[in-house]
Amino acid sequence: TTMVMVPQVVDAVSIPVIAAGGIGDGRGMVAAFMLGASAVQLGTRFLVAHECTIHQNFKNAVLKARDIDTTVTGQITGHPVRTIRNKLTRLYDKAEKEETSKDQPDFERLEAIGKGALRRAVIDGDMDAGSMMSGQIAGLVKTEQSCEEIIQELMSESQTVIEQQKKAFI
Ligand SMILES: Cc1cc2nc3c(=O)[nH]c(=O)nc-3n(C[C@H](O)[C@H](O)[C@H](O)COP(=O)(O)O)c2cc1C
Repeated sequence: TTMVMVPQVVDAVSIPVIAAGGIGDGRGMVAAFMLGASAVQLGTRFLVAHECTIHQNFKNAVLKARDIDTTVTGQITGHPVRTIRNKLTRLYDKAEKEETSKDQPDFERLEAIGKGALRRAVIDGDMDAGSMMSGQIAGLVKTEQSCEEIIQELMSESQTVIEQQKKAFI
């Protein structure tokens, strides 16, 4: 996870580290900096930005998602993908389990299931057969905003958290 990876990567390298994965608000951002990151990258939070052109159904799924609503598929293929759980992930899960139990897994079968799935989510807004890529932090993403509003909110929340921590430690 980001919590364990960031400090270990920071210790292991001598270049600036960008923390990514599971950061959704000012608290997460400050936490990443406390772990030694030089910058943060947010993906899921910006899925619901006004400027983001994904289908509205996909945005609604992110807004509705709870902390437990995502799952990782494709571990067996070496290309794991985290998405919001739906008919497609259940179908893929089942096929992945079947193939994992075989001596010679049929990767082409799995590839066929995933083929075109991102397009179905992003362009067509197909919430059953589409691959709605999203992080676990979707549970915290509740409002559609402009990129400017998101960034301003992140900055002001960070300031608040830092001030609170200063008070707690003095
Ligand atoms: C729509 C979407 C597509 C993504 N595509 C990729 C990808 O092709 N390769 C990859 O390594 N990560 C991909 N990611 C994961 C991002 O790297 C991830 O969102 C980023 O690390 C930030 O984590 P967060 O979403 O928890 O903020 C994607 C994420 C989203 C939301």
